[in-house]
Amino acid sequence: MNINQNYLNLKDNYLFAEIARKVKEFKAANPDKDIIRLGIGDVTLPLAPVVVDAMKNAAIEMGDAKTFRGYDDNQGYDFLKSSVAGYYAKKGVSIDENEIFICDGAKSDTANILDIFGADNAVVIPDPVYPVYADTNIMVGREASFIDGNIGNTFLPMPDTNVKFDIVYLCSPNNPTGAVYNKEQLKIWVDYANSIDAIILFDSAYEAYVCDDNLPTSIFQIEGAKKCAIEFCSLSKTAGFTGTRCGYTIVPQSLVRNEVGLNKLWRRRQGTKFNGVSYIVQRGAEAVFSEEGQNQTKEGIAYYMQNAKIISDALSKLGIWYSGGKNSPYIWLKCPNGLSSWEFFDLLLTKANVVGTPGAGFGANGEGFFRLTSFGDKDNIIEAMKRITDILK
Ligand code: MLT
Repeated sequence: MNINQNYLNLKDNYLFAEIARKVKEFKAANPDKDIIRLGIGDVTLPLAPVVVDAMKNAAIEMGDAKTFRGYDDNQGYDFLKSSVAGYYAKKGVSIDENEIFICDGAKSDTANILDIFGADNAVVIPDPVYPVYADTNIMVGREASFIDGNIGNTFLPMPDTNVKFDIVYLCSPNNPTGAVYNKEQLKIWVDYANSIDAIILFDSAYEAYVCDDNLPTSIFQIEGAKKCAIEFCSLSKTAGFTGTRCGYTIVPQSLVRNEVGLNKLWRRRQGTKFNGVSYIVQRGAEAVFSEEGQNQTKEGIAYYMQNAKIISDALSKLGIWYSGGKNSPYIWLKCPNGLSSWEFFDLLLTKANVVGTPGAGFGANGEGFFRLTSFGDKDNIIEAMKRITDILK
């Protein structure tokens, strides 16, 4: 019997588990401290009323033999796939329903997608970025290469023609930096990927936060992307589904490698390993895409973006460099006074009782940086920024 030795190459804890561990330890030693959590990107507003109603009605259907549902198509109910296709149509993107796979969020699918790719592919991951991409490659024993995001390229790395790759992850709006690729930049990525037969794994989990109409919210708004890209999206941050779990992955029919359609491979993988998202949750997700649902969820996004402004304004006053917070719920800042990102984490936790996320957790280039989320309660955010200002000014 042998374990998967690759796991021994991972850090002991997943980034957010490590933060939770440290906060729990601090809280145990300081039970009277009121800790404000701006670390993990977890929403705080409740589900929109229209979503709750849809889920209540679905629960009632499940309690009646005449309308009860058991297993269905594990790729998602047609009603939800049709709503997702309608959402894309409004972006000017035509997606066929059989290109849509309903899932429980972008995290699982950006990780699981590796199942359909050969072990010998060269993988490129931007640094810094959502740690799931690097961790899941380590788990399968693959040594990925990294492309640098830094202040010089506004944390938006472009293809490096010296680095050959078969698969690249792009996350836009980026987690953690909040940077967003424009259409011209994405076109360069798409053309380059097509020229070398590579695949782009495009994580658009934060697309709903893009306020600038000129910025793309889907890679499929870029000509040629359907021949080289898979898109992952989630309702976690769009509609407060972090605890409810629902997302979707788009695998175009025209995405073919080694004469095999990747849509077919992914369908085969999901058919074997995934039994679908619950009917109740899919009805709630359908409601997100209704007109009322869009209006109600946009109110939530506007609330978080107001919080982002409170954070950004406080950082500007302190003279601290930051990015994000404009088309993204994340604010990425340079740690003051040359502190490392974990030193700054400890300082904020112990002196301001505020939790953020150390940039180093998102890759080597995140060292010296720090992420704050705007997903908190407004009064807490005001209080957190007051405390941070007090210890830094
Ligand atoms: C994050 O904080 O980076 C994300 O919220 C974590 C996640 O969604 O998995």
